[in-house]
Amino acid sequence: MNAAFASAQTCPYIVLREPAAVREVLHRPENFSPANALIAVTPLSGQSLRVLQRARFALPPVLASNDTASHAGIRKVVAGYFTPATVGAFEPRIRGIARDAAAAAVGLLETVGQVDLVQAVAAYPPAVVMLELLGLPVRDLPELKAWSLDSLELFWGWPDPERQLELAHSAAEFYGWLRELVLEAVASPGRNLFRSLAEHGLSTPEICSLGYFLLIAGQETTTQLISTAFFRLAEGSVGFAWKDAASGTTARDLIRHVLATESSVPTWRRIAAQDTVLDGERIPAGAEILLELTGNHESSGQGPTAYGLAFGSGIHRCLGAKLAELEAAVVVQETAAALQGIRLAEPNPEWLRLLSFQAPRTVVVGR
Ligand code: HEM
Repeated sequence: MNAAFASAQTCPYIVLREPAAVREVLHRPENFSPANALIAVTPLSGQSLRVLQRARFALPPVLASNDTASHAGIRKVVAGYFTPATVGAFEPRIRGIARDAAAAAVGLLETVGQVDLVQAVAAYPPAVVMLELLGLPVRDLPELKAWSLDSLELFWGWPDPERQLELAHSAAEFYGWLRELVLEAVASPGRNLFRSLAEHGLSTPEICSLGYFLLIAGQETTTQLISTAFFRLAEGSVGFAWKDAASGTTARDLIRHVLATESSVPTWRRIAAQDTVLDGERIPAGAEILLELTGNHESSGQGPTAYGLAFGSGIHRCLGAKLAELEAAVVVQETAAALQGIRLAEPNPEWLRLLSFQAPRTVVVGR
């Protein structure tokens, strides 16, 4: 088996890099549970826990970390908001939002001389699209973006105690905002996801738990994918010229290339539900497993994998895969068409590097 049984001091996970083994784990949910999907990589301090408890913050297993029989029914309710037909019909709206963002970036480039494509273009369209598709009000977007990054760092990062406390305050504030949104949406007459979940029988804490994951995963990961695509395109390092990405086919190929080589979600976790065997090796119950979904698979001798595992596989496969790919391609295409003749103004940006998330924090371009 191509697993790295690293010492517990350096890495608490069994790391699986071989695509076939990763796929097998994802397809054996009875042996490899997703129950650890939302557990903080850096254990929360007593002080941070108290901040979260005061906000009645709780993440009961509902969707991504749910290994019980209730998962299938809940997944079906959420999937109803992202059917291929719904996503396909939304393309003109996505293109309109992308064009507006690209036009604003052109304005900044002309007035200021340079523009950060992460803030100007990648940040907001995925959030607007997600909220509209879910039937939720589009509001407080700057706060949503800041809360998302903070929560990703709190749960998938390595903050020191002081930073962790700051992040816990941010997560508590986000959760309070979310609870209000849930109560409002459940009581409102129109079709929206939170109301559908309440009708399915979920409690308010369960809806908040699902909302906390989805409102982050449903937009920040796409922002990050678009950011990396912009950076590599502007850098000229991936074999695609900036001007060529103005074509829909090239933009789609670029997004698939980034998903295969440098995805915004390069890894995901599972935990062994009981003593089991993988590729002839014994895996003890409770072992935490880090799956390398995409990236380098030199060990397999096949070079980078296709992007086939970028969205996971099996019964928990990402429900937003089609939407994320479409959005990313449309945003890149519209931006490449609107901003001609640009160059990378800051070739060494800071990167967000967490256990399961990565992207450049800025992509500043000029003429
Ligand atoms: C580039 C963007 C995205 C990437 C790379 C990504 C990746 C992933 C991955 C790796 C998983 C875990 C899959 C597994 O356990 O097998 C996942 C789950 C999930 N994703 Fe995404 N995702 C993205 C965007 C989105 C979007 C836009 C949405 C919705 C609007 C979304 C909704 C979900 C949901 C609901 C789950 C949990 C599904 C379940 O447990 O049944 N994701 N995603």
